[in-house]
Amino acid sequence: MKKRIAIVTGASRGIGKEFVKQLLLKDPDEIWAVARNEERLEMLRRELSEKIIPLSKDLSVFEEMDSLREMLEKKNPTVVWLVNNAGTAKMGLYEDFKAEEIDRSVRLNCSAVAALCTICIPYMERGSRILNISSAASFQPMPYLNLYAASKVFVRYYSRGLNEELKRKGISVTAVCPGWVDTELLMREINGKKVNFPGVVSPAAVVKKALMDGEKGKDISVCSLYVKWEHLFTKLFSEKTAMNIWLKGIQKYGYAGK
Ligand SMILES: NC(=O)c1ccc[n+]([C@@H]2O[C@H](COP(=O)([O-])OP(=O)(O)OC[C@H]3O[C@@H](n4cnc5c(N)ncnc54)[C@H](OP(=O)(O)O)[C@@H]3O)[C@@H](O)[C@H]2O)c1
Repeated sequence: MKKRIAIVTGASRGIGKEFVKQLLLKDPDEIWAVARNEERLEMLRRELSEKIIPLSKDLSVFEEMDSLREMLEKKNPTVVWLVNNAGTAKMGLYEDFKAEEIDRSVRLNCSAVAALCTICIPYMERGSRILNISSAASFQPMPYLNLYAASKVFVRYYSRGLNEELKRKGISVTAVCPGWVDTELLMREINGKKVNFPGVVSPAAVVKKALMDGEKGKDISVCSLYVKWEHLFTKLFSEKTAMNIWLKGIQKYGYAGK
């Protein structure tokens, strides 16, 4: 009998760790937990379950990402859930990003997402689910968080398009679009000022809703009323108005705004 597995990237902390916790309740044979920090992944296995297979990989490096394809070839499991969650974000002006950092960020936030979908689909069956973690940052351009927001537009569009392509196979793809989530990704201080995150939610809430929406085959998952309103806002008014509100909000942290 083939093993029924879930693959979660960015599993060592934050939203990814929560995905591992909640997916364990669905009783897969194994969860392949991918991130760079081996120690944290081992701790997750000790803390939560022997079913967790820690896989220490840097997904911004093609060969390390592609080694998952080799593992799938060797083990030949059924992939029931793929959660493309690993991601990176940095606030700053365009010139704070060197070309090499831009390349690495896009590889992790965009290329690895699309590549892992393509690698895993041959091992999926009707009812398998892909959850790609985009963001409410994809609803409008976000100057000074520009690279991150733009990368999340890629994830949202790619996921929704792929969902259509996979309908004939009975596999769904959901673009998960959380607003601010209480994890280590959030910068607590900018230029010495404590940051307030409007509408912040817990990883548990995001993951619960994402798994529910994935099971329903939805192509987008929006967790809170606050983010639903943000999404509607850009449709009712304009992306430009939403961008200007963001610029105004970050003015107090020393970023130029309107
Ligand atoms: N927090 C938010 O407000 C928020 C809002 C919307 C969307 N999101 C998205 O949700 C996802 C998870 O974010 P989070 O808030 O949980 O962030 P986090 O706490 O910083 O966790 C990021 C995860 O990605 C892994 N990771 C980072 N670089 C990697 C690499 N090169 N290769 C493999 N794994 C890597 C990290 O593990 P290692 O360091 O061990 O590699 C970690 O497990 C991201 O895609 C993020 O963009 C977050």
